[in-house]
Amino acid sequence: MTMLTSLPHRVRLIDVGPRDGLQNEKQAVPAAVKVELVHRLQAAGLKEIEVTSFVSPKWVPQMADNAEVMAGIHREAGVRYSVLTPNLQGFEAAFKTLPDEIVVFGAASEAFSQKNINCSIAESIERFAPVVKAARDAGISVRGAMSCTVGCPYEGDVAPERVSYLAGLMKSIGVQRVDVADTIGVGTPRKVQAAMEATLKHYALNDVSGHFHDTYGQALSNTLAALQMGVWNFQSSVAGLGGCPYAKGATGNVATEDVVYLLQGLGIDTGIDLDKLIDAGVYISEALGRQPNSPVSRAVLNKRSA
Ligand code: HMG
Ligand code: MG
Repeated sequence: MTMLTSLPHRVRLIDVGPRDGLQNEKQAVPAAVKVELVHRLQAAGLKEIEVTSFVSPKWVPQMADNAEVMAGIHREAGVRYSVLTPNLQGFEAAFKTLPDEIVVFGAASEAFSQKNINCSIAESIERFAPVVKAARDAGISVRGAMSCTVGCPYEGDVAPERVSYLAGLMKSIGVQRVDVADTIGVGTPRKVQAAMEATLKHYALNDVSGHFHDTYGQALSNTLAALQMGVWNFQSSVAGLGGCPYAKGATGNVATEDVVYLLQGLGIDTGIDLDKLIDAGVYISEALGRQPNSPVSRAVLNKRSA
């Protein structure tokens, strides 16, 4: 049994709210609001922000303002701004906006690969290879998102071998680090640990992150399970925004506020100011006309107004 005393001393959080969070919104969100959200996240101490994606605007209309958003950000030194690029066309558009990191995104399940990016896993790797090379030649870091590492909305359970296969392919084309994503939030701790273990066959602990959607309310438990393995990079969305338009019924990522509260309670350093983060979550939630989807945010807001 791993003791809680062996947890990492610090955790790096990537807020994916501006991208994963907002990509699923039906209502138009002005670019200026997205830019302001990024500003508030960096003011709260986030050192990595997934800003937008350079995908087809027919597939994901909400991300059509990608270049405008990237151009509007006043960048802070020491903050890494990443963007999704599914193919060379996306990379070429992204490149002009000077991202620090690009993200290619594949899936451990064939059906999800087809639905999300319109090609097989093998074809996706063929498409990613020149993107990865172009990015690395230009000195841009490369991350790989791996969807459906636990379950798939079309295929059901996904075996760890599928995850290992995808991680090996990502490694073979030069992807520097990978996200183990539970796209539809069906994972529970042992299943997530198995997906992590499969990934760790190909990537070092420092280069693996957890990306847990919270559909079934398991994301914090899964975060703790990954922490117990020594994983110390995680993705989350401010105010629990998000979902993937090609994973019907899946809700947002675990709220960054909830993860920060958990980590603070465990004495793990994140460099994030929880109060400022909660304000950032309130900002974007008000812009969307709803309450932050985060119990920690709700509790702190209730306390503030008492
Ligand atoms: P396709 O239709 O197979 O692409 O889509 P194509 O190469 O045949 O091109 C068709 C049209 O798309 C052409 O335009 C291209 O110019 C255009 P047309 O001639 O018809 O006017 N096009 C593009 N336009 C802008 N930017 C581009 C681009 N590429 C082609 N980069 C494609 C393939 C990958 C483009 C499409 O399937 C797509 O855009 N998919 C996006 C899916 C997506 O964004 N999903 C959400 C992000 S992933 C996610 O949320 C999961 C994650 O959070 C982890 C997790 O939780 O699992 C990361
Ligand atoms: Mg996601």
